Amino acid sequence: MCRICGGVVNEFLDLGRQPLSDAFVEPDETADEFYYHLRVGVCESCSMVQQLAEVPRERMFHDSYPYVSSGSVRMREHFTRTAHDLLERESTGSDPFIVEIGSNDGTMLAAVRAAGVRHLGVEPCGGVADVARAAGVRVRSAFFEEAVGAEIAAQDGPANVVFAANTICHIPYLDSIFRGIDALLAPDGVFVFEDPYLGDVIEKNSFDQIYDEHFYVFSARSVQAMARRFGFELVDVRRLPVHGGEVRYTLARAGARTPSAAVAALVASEDARGLAELSTLHAFAAEVDRISRDLVLQLEKLRDSGLRVAGYGATAKSATVTNYAGIGPDLVPCVFDTTPAKQGRLMPGSHIPVRPAEEFAEYGADRLLLFAWNHAEEIIAKEKDFARGGGRWLLYVPEVRLL
Ligand code: SAH
Ligand code: TYD
Ligand code: ZN
Repeated sequence: MCRICGGVVNEFLDLGRQPLSDAFVEPDETADEFYYHLRVGVCESCSMVQQLAEVPRERMFHDSYPYVSSGSVRMREHFTRTAHDLLERESTGSDPFIVEIGSNDGTMLAAVRAAGVRHLGVEPCGGVADVARAAGVRVRSAFFEEAVGAEIAAQDGPANVVFAANTICHIPYLDSIFRGIDALLAPDGVFVFEDPYLGDVIEKNSFDQIYDEHFYVFSARSVQAMARRFGFELVDVRRLPVHGGEVRYTLARAGARTPSAAVAALVASEDARGLAELSTLHAFAAEVDRISRDLVLQLEKLRDSGLRVAGYGATAKSATVTNYAGIGPDLVPCVFDTTPAKQGRLMPGSHIPVRPAEEFAEYGADRLLLFAWNHAEEIIAKEKDFARGGGRWLLYVPEVRLL
């Protein structure tokens, strides 16, 4: 049953037995790993793409949650720009108030704070919340939901903007989120969120955008229907180049603002290409299978030719690829990553060891499987010596190919 509207959900993709994508394990703790069956479907009524089973939120988001927003220079720049966009366009009045759901290490809100604007982050994971606090960002340690929205409104007054990046798609219980936003948002306030876009996922075959934390894959059509259901309206959309292709959705209370032409245009383009139709999604599932097989064949070829292979970027996304395709340390002996909380541990399910990015040069790889393909430009530029020395990057989005 659809988590948004109660409609019938038709399964189109079975990604098999999957671990928690951000649960990097100590080498002696692999026996305790949590697994679940990752299946994806689309709602017949509202066209929302969603998982068929829910992982309890506390299993995914806890005090040792390892993901930090600040891990990419390009993302830091993106969030600074985002803060300025929000401040310029949306925060009217003399004392604006901006709330961020899923504020993580405070990368976006630090720029709001620097502008001297009232703000509050809502973040359940203690470790990253403390990093934000150390930077002077105000954070409430909580899962945002109906009661939290009402409490913030009572304490701090209404918010002009509620913002969330890469977080709303993580939350199955969006009915409660919308009620919380309804309680929190000023009458003319906006709810702005950005998440991976179904249009890009289908176009780029980026099936690794689907993992435990990414419960929904949004489209303009499904977000428009969801907004209506909860008393809001989709009033603007903007495609973003980050994380392999996202859309920033702006929602206002129903009737409060006139939707921009971009909304109708994006919805029409989705309808024209049959984006949420089962035939399209089944074709996508076939591509997922083909690419996974291709990737394994390519890795086997590299191994058999005696080349030194490693992975680059211990992303959450890579859990889906490695576990679905069956890629382990025999094919990818280790993966390099800059995140201290991931280093020295094993990638979930696949048990590929994560090594500090500083050890990358001495490892002397011939071929690097770029798991963090969404940061390709930044990473390939940073590691230009690798290619200069004859090394080649192996990508699997949108196709398996060597650069
Ligand atoms: N906004 C950041 C972080 C994205 S990771 C960025 O784009 O880089 C997703 C974040 O959402 C995590 O920090 C997680 O702890 C948080 N989160 C998950 N469920 C939440 C909820 N119900 N309320 C607030 N934050 C939540
Ligand atoms: P990311 O693709 O942002 O997200 P997700 O985990 O949700 O799939 O993760 C990027 C990972 O790659 C993160 O663990 C940090 C790492 N990384 C590097 O090791 N070096 C780099 O230069 C960059 C940009 C990221
Ligand atoms: Zn539905």
